[in-house]
Order: sequence, then structure tokens, then C-alpha cells
Amino acid sequence: MSQGNFGVAGLGVMGQNVALNIERNGFQVIAYNRSDENANVMRAKAEGKNFIVTQSIEEFVKKLEPPRRVLLMVTAGKGTDAVIDALTHYLQPGDIIIDGGNSHFPDTNRRAEALHAKGYHFVGCGISGGDEGALWGPSIMPGGNYEAYERIAPVLEKIAAKTKDDGACVTYCGRTSAGHYVKMVHNGIEYGIMQVICEVYDVLRNSLGLSAKEIGEIFQKWTKSQEVGGFLVDITAVCLAKKDDQAKKGHLVDQILDTAGQKGTGKWTAQSALDLGVPIPTLSMSVEARILSGLKPLRVEAAKILDGPEVKIDKKKKDDVVDALYNALHLSMIACYAQGMALIQEASKTYDYGTNYAEVARIWKEGCIIRSKLLDPIKEAFKDQPDLSNLMVHPSFSKIVNDSLPDLRKVVRLAAKTGVPATCLGATLAYIDSYRSEFLPANLLQALRDNFGAHTYKRLDREGVFHSDWNGEGPVTESSGH
Ligand code: 6PG
Repeated sequence: MSQGNFGVAGLGVMGQNVALNIERNGFQVIAYNRSDENANVMRAKAEGKNFIVTQSIEEFVKKLEPPRRVLLMVTAGKGTDAVIDALTHYLQPGDIIIDGGNSHFPDTNRRAEALHAKGYHFVGCGISGGDEGALWGPSIMPGGNYEAYERIAPVLEKIAAKTKDDGACVTYCGRTSAGHYVKMVHNGIEYGIMQVICEVYDVLRNSLGLSAKEIGEIFQKWTKSQEVGGFLVDITAVCLAKKDDQAKKGHLVDQILDTAGQKGTGKWTAQSALDLGVPIPTLSMSVEARILSGLKPLRVEAAKILDGPEVKIDKKKKDDVVDALYNALHLSMIACYAQGMALIQEASKTYDYGTNYAEVARIWKEGCIIRSKLLDPIKEAFKDQPDLSNLMVHPSFSKIVNDSLPDLRKVVRLAAKTGVPATCLGATLAYIDSYRSEFLPANLLQALRDNFGAHTYKRLDREGVFHSDWNGEGPVTESSGH
């Protein structure tokens, strides 16, 4: 029994799977793709289902019941603008366009403004979970026009991943571009956790000399953990266990080129954090780590010129090191979520999103790439203190931070001693050490700035703004400052 129809434009694998998910949940799907290839694959998959697949945008719009609901599953960027442009030749005021791609949030603001001016509703909507999630239940992060959200919510709630006892993994993330902002930060956290996992793997591989199989077994144990357990640890165990069926020698991971690409969401997260003045060093360093991975030819040359230590860790210490790595991973994951949530909080204030932070953590509990056991206590922490200054200082996390910090220190020390680049583990340690420091060396920084540029400084013992004659005998002057 159909409950009204729903349009899906863009039938790559994600689009196809979301469309199948929507149909499975009782809605007729009108699916559009201009090219033959994707349209034909969709036709084959839609055989016998409540689907109309069309390659004509005019037919696509005409088949939809007004007020129309159109979900765009198009690669972010110019393609999104092109499809929106084509759609608006046929849509009517009051129709809803939902952008389900990984669009950059300023683009979402621009599109929302232009479409609202013409009377259309626009919902920027993050969707996470990869191909499988799209088909069986993604985490969905919509934002924008609330009236439009209410009209699509019944569909989104049906197709979203479900938590055991905490509802569907969809919530209204806030006004204007909030949905895409939250999804962008989700990806920033995804980058951070993945890089931390890779560094833990690297210490096990290079500092301890373990094989992919042995490391896979360690991660396999961790998949059961209430602390680090989650999708990314699960798939790490899977990736490390996979045998190489092409070359028939050893494990596949050992044959994969050590260069990782990126599509932009991690970089945007770092850029936005700089704009908003929110420190997210673990997440930012994970982008740097990917860039460094891309310098393969330069690294190969440099490896012949620049020396590292020849030290390895005694394998007898394996159990101790594995325990320390576990705690370092746990703490670094907490730091990734803490940095991401802090960024969303600041963005919500600056851009007037009105985001509910506990809800964001709740909808990440299932369906998305960063789902993990940690998200339930994170949700509880933000429920308990909606204006929490940082996850690490909440009573349910501060003890973990205090207990695990010595192990993170130990791991960073071991990595440094053995020459393993602990880009994100090191950044996490420095982040926590900075955040817990009552005094940072910025007193000297103020002095330096005042010395070369008369930028003035503030004092601990007196109110006011001061400038000194640093090289001469001149007096300290008090100024109104700037
Ligand atoms: C998700 C993923 C998805 C995509 C990333 C990958 O939540 O389902 O995050 O959106 O896999 O964009 O990004 P990179 O190619 O930049 O690693």
C-alpha cells in the first residue's frame, strides 16, 4: 500500500540503495538519472517493485504528487547545482528539494537562499553509512526549513537506522546548513578516528614488528569492547584479516599502496574550525596525515637521505604495549568526538543553527560510519549538560581521561623512540595537555608580539592593556589597546 510517492534523483550506488530502502518502507519511488547506465541498473534492481525509473526530468517531476519531495543523491559540487537548476524548470512553489550529498555547507546556504526566494523548500541533509547503510538504514542529518523537514520526517524515520531503545537515527539538526555542517563534522571525526586506528596499527607493525594477522587478532578482540567497540574498529579487524587472493601471498593490507585520497569533508572541517577558532588538532592532523601519505615519491626519496632510529620494542613487552595502545585509542576516540562536538557547538552559536547536541550523538549511535559504543554516554553527557564546555570535563569522561592519559603518553613516547609517526596520537596528547593547562606559554607570546609590533599585552596582576619599551629603559605604558 503506497503512502505517497517520493522522488530520488541521481542513481549511483548510494542513490539506488536509498531508493530501494524508501520503496521497501512502503513508498512509491520515482527515480531519475539522465545516463543510461545508472538508469538501467536501477530498472533491473527495481523489477517487480513499486518504482518508476525515468531519464526525463520533466516526466520525473510530473509523476510526483504535489507537494513534491525530491531527494538529490548527486556527487556534491557543480552536479548538484545543475540538477537543481534543471528541476526548478518544472517544480512548483511549495515543493521540497532535499540534498542528500556531502555538500559544503556554504553551498547549502547559497542554494537555500536562492530556492527559498523562489518559494521552494530546501533541506540540506547529511546521509552516512556507505552503500549498505543507504540500503538498510543510514544515519540521517537533515537541516534547513523546519516545515519541510516535518513533511519528510515520516519517510526519513522509516528509512533510517534504528537504535535498540533510542529511536530512529534521524533528527532535525537545525536551521539553514546545519544538516550538512553536522555531516561534515561527522566526516572530520571519521578522518580522526581512522588515522588514530592507523597509527595504533603502525606502532604494532613497526615498533613491535607484528604481522597483519597478529594485529588483526588484536583488533578482533577490541571489537567486543564496550569502550572502543564500533564500526571503524570492526572493519579494521575485517580489513586486517583479509587474505590477498590476487597475488596469493599473505594479507591484502600488506599489498595496498600507502597513499590515501580525500574528497574534501575532512579539509572543510579543519578550515571551518580555523574560521570559528575551535581547536580540533586531532581532526586537522588527520587531514595533514592524508596529505603526507600522498607525498609517496618524495617520501621514498627522503627515506634514503633522512635517518630514523633503528630501535624496536622488545616483543616480550607486547602485552603491556597492547594494553597501552588500547587506552590510547580509547582516549583518542573520545578526543575526536570531543573536538567534533565542540566545533558543532560553536557553529550552532555562530550560525544560529539551534542544534540539539545530545540528539546529534543519538543519531550517530547506529547507521553511520562513526557509530560506536561511546556515543551513548556522549549523548547522556550532553543531555545532562547541554552547554557542556568540553566532553572531556564531564564527570562521566574526566575519569577515563585521567586514567588513560599516562598510556597515551607512553604510546607517543614509544612511537617517538621507534620513529613511527604518531601524527594524531601526538596531536591528541598535546590537545589534552593544552586543554588541562592552567598556564600556557602564551605569556611569552604576548611579550614577543608586543616587542616587535607593539601589539600590547595584558597582565596577571592588574587590569588594563600594556606596552613596554622592550629594548630600552623606557617605562611600561598603559593604553586603551587594540
Ligand atoms: C559516510 C562517509 C561518506 C564517504 C566519505 C569519504 O558517512 O557514509 O563519510 O560520506 O565515505 O565522504 O570521504 P573521503 O573520500 O574524503 O575519505
